[in-house]
Amino acid sequence: MNTAQAQLGAVLSAGGPSLARLLERTEARLAEVAETHGAALGVLAAGTLAAGGKRLRPVLVFLCGDGEDDRLVAAGTAVELLHMATLVHDDVLDAAELRRGRPTVFAAACSPAATATGDLLFSRAFAELAATGSEDAVRALSTASSALAHGELMQRADAWNENVPPERYLERCRLKTASLFEASCRLGALFRGRPDLAPALGQFGERLGVAFQMLDDVLDVSGPAERTGKPRGADLLDGTVTLPLILARRQDPTLPGEVTTPQQAEAVCERIAATGALDDARGQALAHVTAAKQALDGLQLSQQRTNALQLVADGVVERYA
Ligand code: IPE
Ligand code: IPE
Ligand code: MG
Ligand code: MG
Repeated sequence: MNTAQAQLGAVLSAGGPSLARLLERTEARLAEVAETHGAALGVLAAGTLAAGGKRLRPVLVFLCGDGEDDRLVAAGTAVELLHMATLVHDDVLDAAELRRGRPTVFAAACSPAATATGDLLFSRAFAELAATGSEDAVRALSTASSALAHGELMQRADAWNENVPPERYLERCRLKTASLFEASCRLGALFRGRPDLAPALGQFGERLGVAFQMLDDVLDVSGPAERTGKPRGADLLDGTVTLPLILARRQDPTLPGEVTTPQQAEAVCERIAATGALDDARGQALAHVTAAKQALDGLQLSQQRTNALQLVADGVVERYA
């Protein structure tokens, strides 16, 4: 277990031995996938996979699923591969230097190599799911993948804009992040043979994903990099306008929108924090977590499953990475 996963310790206990076994099998499959596609790309893909990560999306697949069906492992592997593909590409778009406490593929091997690595991870994600023979599953992942691309483009279009409305920011969170959380939960429902649960579990995942991105944006301002594995103020440096900045500008309209050095970014992060915007954004994220938990009401999942999913939801706003 890596440090980021240790944060999920309580969830792992609540999920029982089958969750731990499914995660182990997923880890083994991820390593296999990275190794079998040519030395040059394989090294970059394997490095990305080995750097860890919380494996939160596979956990959602398994907790929304039931049993230890091979198709759940395929789905868990697919959502993590898609997630990693988007991170490798995201780091090109954001010109990010650090991820999971290590240099990004973009920083270590330049942008064409990162683009190719992301492409490889994308294609392997779909191959993994196609092997289950479920068209619905492939469609769910494809929907998330398209939404993600749309969200990333919206974010670029909003860069440096001082007047991004909060509603548009929320829509970006939904597209960029929540869509894959939703798909993960839907895949779990599908492969437990309960497609009727997919809408409600999908809704749980979507609300959770919005809260997760809001918290990620809070962590970008609060840091510290030693805890998050990502540089503090990275969003400010690349012009990404997030909720903390939108809220802080209401209190401190002179906050500069453009920073060019990490030192300036640190200083603006301090000013954002001084306005109370981080607590406000955290509070808004918490409301989405509450809505996520409400989506579980009346589903008649086992008590153990409900507890574990609620723990995941609580963990989204009580995290440091
Ligand atoms: C990072 O996701 C990207 C966002 C959606 C904010 P995670 O925080 O789940 O990344 P890892 O997998 O744990 O590194
Ligand atoms: C999430 O947004 C990226 C994706 C969903 C691909 P961020 O740009 O905030 O993610 P980090 O902070 O780089 O992990
Ligand atoms: Mg980024
Ligand atoms: Mg971020």
